[in-house]
Amino acid sequence: MDNRPVLHVCVTCQPAGGESVRPDTQTEGARLHGTLIARVAARNLDARVRINPVTCMANCDQGCSAAASAPGKWSYIAGYLKAELADDLIDYALVYGESKTGVIMPSRRAPSLKDVFVARVPAHPDDLAENGDPS
Ligand code: FES
Repeated sequence: MDNRPVLHVCVTCQPAGGESVRPDTQTEGARLHGTLIARVAARNLDARVRINPVTCMANCDQGCSAAASAPGKWSYIAGYLKAELADDLIDYALVYGESKTGVIMPSRRAPSLKDVFVARVPAHPDDLAENGDPS
């Protein structure tokens, strides 16, 4: 099993607040995804974190969205993101990947990620049998 943490990035997201589409027609989500891919490669972190493009995570009202997940851990959904936060998100994913439960204290997140998390989802029950209770 691949136990790397995954950052799922919605590539169809637009910025929060109904801002217009960028002149190059690239969505904010696609821009974030592309920047994450480039930064993970530049930092030689492919073995430690996965970047997974997805379409709509039903978090559209909170702008550019992404989620962190890993086997046996809480998953976290974030909004209000932008490409400029890519390195902070990668750093978060690394700490998340090292955690047992996926719960990361705010003091271990970049200040830019202080108010972006909008929901969390428990691990699949079958994962708990393999990895222990993530509560
Ligand atoms: S388009 Fe990204 S969450 Fe809906």
